[in-house]
Amino acid sequence: MAINIPRGTQDILPGVSEHWQYIEQTAAELCRQYQYKEIRTPVFEHTELFERGVGDTTDIVQKEMYTFKDRGDRNLTLRPEGTASVVRSYVQHKMHGQAVQPVKLFYTGPMFRYERPQAGRFRQFVQFGVEAIGSDDPAIDAEVISLAMELYSRLGLKKVKLVLNSLGDTESRIAHKNALIEHFSPRIEEFCSDCQVRLDKNPLRILDCKKDRGHELIENAPSLKDYLNEESQSYFEKVKRYLDVMGIEYELDPNLVRGLDYYNHTAFEIMSDAEGFGAITTLCGGGRYNGLTEEIGGPSAPGIGFALSIERLMAALEAENVTLPIKTRVDCYFVAMGEAAKEKTVSLAFEARKKGLSVELDYLNRKMKGQFKAADRIKASNVVIIGEDELTAGKAAVKNMESGSQKDVMFEEIIQYIEKA
Ligand code: HAM
Repeated sequence: MAINIPRGTQDILPGVSEHWQYIEQTAAELCRQYQYKEIRTPVFEHTELFERGVGDTTDIVQKEMYTFKDRGDRNLTLRPEGTASVVRSYVQHKMHGQAVQPVKLFYTGPMFRYERPQAGRFRQFVQFGVEAIGSDDPAIDAEVISLAMELYSRLGLKKVKLVLNSLGDTESRIAHKNALIEHFSPRIEEFCSDCQVRLDKNPLRILDCKKDRGHELIENAPSLKDYLNEESQSYFEKVKRYLDVMGIEYELDPNLVRGLDYYNHTAFEIMSDAEGFGAITTLCGGGRYNGLTEEIGGPSAPGIGFALSIERLMAALEAENVTLPIKTRVDCYFVAMGEAAKEKTVSLAFEARKKGLSVELDYLNRKMKGQFKAADRIKASNVVIIGEDELTAGKAAVKNMESGSQKDVMFEEIIQYIEKA
């Protein structure tokens, strides 16, 4: 019996992989302009990293991690997200001591979550993300947000919406947390078992519980924005101001809490507004995580970042009918008739490729007509035909497939001729 792909994963086949490359290259180029440098961390880490980093009351840690013991009895987890790993690496390599500050990093790679697969939700998905660590300047919050918005814009998406909230600093959050505990405690038995656990540890998460959605106590729960202290308010005002001066529009949503524990101050999501986009409209999520470096055992260093999946980005491109400008150019197809001619085409193709040309030849011993068909199928711009007569004459006909024009060119000049054509 044939073996199929595991649920929630996908093969990216030729024809589509070019789109992925285009997106990844556009993102890398953007990061070069914004001065974010690439970091590559392992696909698996010690389980404890995510328990501490992402938070042990989150859905990710409680229900979605691919955790296993290796042969040395270590507890390891396939990374469900990138931030904890990047911060782990920042601490481990003492990047706070680096000359260039703040430390601005980006990554692209597979993440793993055991979620119920549906449109836009996979068990293995690829995140592109950035993390800026070592600055608590609100201007860098705005920079990080602008980078994400600019990527979508460069790729041609128009129907994206930025949603913004402030989760405040520790003091504001504790004040709000206490208010929530007081609010929910008397009737907590009306809530699901997850929420009962969340009450003491992280009551904020009750607000976005899927099971208890609509409960009157959730509807009229104390709002964080009423508990933001002056410092948090003024921080948020500055972030908004910097977005304003860049002309980046946003919607404020006091209920945007995000599903990971490390956030404070700025939290944001970018959603697709495109008609016909699936039920899951969040394309990108991020925010500030001051305190995370300490959680992971390092010195204090404020940070902010975001991540977006290429899968959802691709879905948004499709929903908006955007075609990426992918070039699949084949400069030349060498048609050979007979073994001696074949040797000539093999050597010419080798030389042409050295010169940077994209060329193809026949490997199926096709007749002349078949080789022409093959050249046509891959849309080769030129075809060079070499048979016995050409070998004797030391030149071959180069046919331009678009204009249909044909010219005899000496073997030594063929590559140059194609380069010019
Ligand atoms: P997150 O909101 O869990 O945040 O994920 C960020 C993005 O990853 C989502 O907006 C979505 O595009 C994509 N994503 C998440 N789960 C899936 C899935 N199952 N299938 C397809 N795409 C998915 C984080 O991961 C944080 N580390 C973001 C961050 C970076 N915050 C600060 N720095």
